[in-house]
Amino acid sequence: MSGDPPPDRSAAPRPDRVDPLSDLGTIALVGLMGSGKSSVGRRLARALGLPFHDADAEIEKAAGRSVADIFAERGEAEFRRGERKVIARLLSGPAHVLATGGGAFLDAHTRALLKDKALVVWLQADLATLVQRVSRRTTRPLLVGKNAREVLEAQMAQRHPIYAEAELTIDAGRGSHGDAVEAIVAALRGPRRTAA
Ligand code: S3P
Repeated sequence: MSGDPPPDRSAAPRPDRVDPLSDLGTIALVGLMGSGKSSVGRRLARALGLPFHDADAEIEKAAGRSVADIFAERGEAEFRRGERKVIARLLSGPAHVLATGGGAFLDAHTRALLKDKALVVWLQADLATLVQRVSRRTTRPLLVGKNAREVLEAQMAQRHPIYAEAELTIDAGRGSHGDAVEAIVAALRGPRRTAA
């Protein structure tokens, strides 16, 4: 067979030509209230051609009442139970972009599941931006009747070390939601740290 021509490899896929965005699986956004998880998530889903799910909206659908009403009528523990269930269900489905509620990644079980089944992105934002953004909506149960700056400052101290377990951290502060989407897409195209 020494006379055979060399195989033509011109049509074979080359690893450097594979689009790094084509097979990412589910992307989950975590971060404090006001970090833009839902708005950025919706735009990111559009940019990646994936469906979008908002965990809080799914919890509301499943419970037939608003997050505020669940907190008021059934308490936070019951909300967290629903949150755990809904996120597990969404993560068992097809690839999508998932906006989680600010407390979801704090739950050890949900955190482990998110890290296992999704690429977790932390939308990090500065306190002034968060305070300004949460002031647009008055229904967040953890902020009703409270000083938003104080609550968010305390949550930063408690939650930032946990959000830092995300695979990617994106500055979602002073820039627009579009800037955050661009930063995520650029980071997804680049090298990522392997799961801890
Ligand atoms: C919460 C954040 C809310 C919602 C609930 C609890 C939290 O979602 O899940 O009020 O613990 O930070 P957003 O982060 O979308 O506001």
